[in-house]
Amino acid sequence: MDLPVLYNEAEEWNYCLMLYNAALKELNTKLEILNNEFKLAHQYNPIEHITYRIKTPKSIAKKLMRYGKEVNIENIIKYINDVAGIRIICSFVSDIYRIANLIKKMSDIKVLKIKDYIANPKPNGYTSYHMIVSVPVCLSNITVDTKVEIQIRTIAMDVWASLEHKICYKFEGEAPEHIQKELKECSELLAYLDRKMLSLSREIQNYSPHPVNSYNYDTKYKSPVIESIGTIVDESKSDNIVDVGSDNSKKKEKKEKKQAGKNRFLFGFGI
Ligand code: GTP
Ligand code: MG
Repeated sequence: MDLPVLYNEAEEWNYCLMLYNAALKELNTKLEILNNEFKLAHQYNPIEHITYRIKTPKSIAKKLMRYGKEVNIENIIKYINDVAGIRIICSFVSDIYRIANLIKKMSDIKVLKIKDYIANPKPNGYTSYHMIVSVPVCLSNITVDTKVEIQIRTIAMDVWASLEHKICYKFEGEAPEHIQKELKECSELLAYLDRKMLSLSREIQNYSPHPVNSYNYDTKYKSPVIESIGTIVDESKSDNIVDVGSDNSKKKEKKEKKQAGKNRFLFGFGI
């Protein structure tokens, strides 16, 4: 990210914030468009919801100090990848990879780094798909490539990460061993749940109560709709067919005679 020459740090920081905000908005809009297009084409949303945030100055300073770097704008731009962060929550693991691949295909987005914690979960049980990308922000005179961290995860992974974060905060990173063990177990259970939900969803997608291929209709009809119309036509035609031998035709004859008798009685004359 190359900033224009500015007069002081405060001005530079405001400029940086404006760029990070713009990059988040651009990426968010691109993702919304993809989601809407997908919904139109497949009647299905791969993205459940998106959240984004700008890291607080306190948290940025803490991270730079942890890296042993001086806190200044240049180092923030150079060393902190997650000043702008976007989190994409999906229903299923397959949606995570689908979204990640679509992001990789975006012509103006450069993928700088990928960490697949789904294929390789962290030892504590953390799972998510991380990408560091650079988004071009077009200003009046220059275009500035701005870094954004993208985290893509399922609802289950998100629930786990948020609980783990709370536990970490509460115990200042040193949670009792049994809690760590149970958290890891939870992560494995949730991964199992994600797999089961995905296979259930795939089964539902492929399920058809009346698969057309197995529909055994008369070959003279081309579709079930035409077939049903054909049936109505045939029924009305069958009134004209007299099958002397069948039970139905006898019943019909009897009914007609009875009706004629009724008519004679009502109108007072014979036929
Ligand atoms: P930081 O963890 O941000 O210092 O950067 P890193 O270079 O280690 O990147 P990584 O991709 O591993 O993590 C980036 C972000 O993912 C973190 O800031 C968290 O938001 C999230 N994350 C990574 N590991 C964990 C974890 O064990 N638990 C939780 N709750 N979140 C995690
Ligand atoms: Mg972070």
